Amino acid sequence: MQAQIIDGKILSAQVKAEAAAETAALKEKGVTPCLAVILVGEDPASQVYVRGKAKDCHDCGIDSRVIRLPEETTQAELLKLVGELAADKAVNGILVQLPLPAQIDEKAVIDAIPPEKDVDGFSPVNVGRMQIGEPCFLPCTPAGCIRMIESTGTPIEGKRAVVIGRSNIVGKPAALLLLAKNATVTICHSRTANLKELCSSADILVAAVGKAGFVTGDMIKPGAVVIDVGINRGEDGKLHGDVDFAAACEKASYITPVPGGVGLMTRAMLMKNTVQAAARQNGL
Ligand code: GUN
Repeated sequence: MQAQIIDGKILSAQVKAEAAAETAALKEKGVTPCLAVILVGEDPASQVYVRGKAKDCHDCGIDSRVIRLPEETTQAELLKLVGELAADKAVNGILVQLPLPAQIDEKAVIDAIPPEKDVDGFSPVNVGRMQIGEPCFLPCTPAGCIRMIESTGTPIEGKRAVVIGRSNIVGKPAALLLLAKNATVTICHSRTANLKELCSSADILVAAVGKAGFVTGDMIKPGAVVIDVGINRGEDGKLHGDVDFAAACEKASYITPVPGGVGLMTRAMLMKNTVQAAARQNGL
């Protein structure tokens, strides 16, 4: 079997086109969505991500404000800025690019973002709402994963899904969203004993480990849908996923590539959340 590629370029362009159409409709009602992105320090990957977010906003007709702060920014300074953006009625979404420098407590910063402007879906209120199935901002990467799985036409309901990784940003919420779609979900992690056996039972396998090539061909059930969240920079300077792509292509029915996969969907989903934030804040 040769897997079909779930093309993040095509799908993310569709999602961005939806966001652009929604933005145009809001503008007709006098509302222009605006996303504020804060970048602290010089992390090269974060700089690339932030530039990408500003470009996506531009493509969708969304206003963006990128605020770059020096590496030595204090927590108090960052919290003050977040507070100002929280109070600014023209700003609908606030995103603080992670990771933050060591002197800053990430949790304190996330807690300072009002839930209605938390377009990352990281604040405890949004996490809690997602958990109990209430309307909320869904975290962009897991929401993008679901959209990619659904794009294959493969029903999620009743399927066995395995998520490798238990981070608050990807693994845990991906598992919850799959559960909400009525999959039977297993979360695997670094202490999981029978990892290979569990993974190779998965109809849907989501890899969010952060190790290049971690998922080998023998861990994939024939016909599985494989979603690779990993973005690992190799010694060759290229980006590699968590999945051994060539081997996985021989087993999976569908697979996401890296680059050109989940990363693009994360960015597109952020645009959807920003539009939604603007609509909700204006009672639309
Ligand atoms: N760093 C890596 N991924 C993300 C993300 O989705 N949101 C934020 N704020 N920072 C990140």
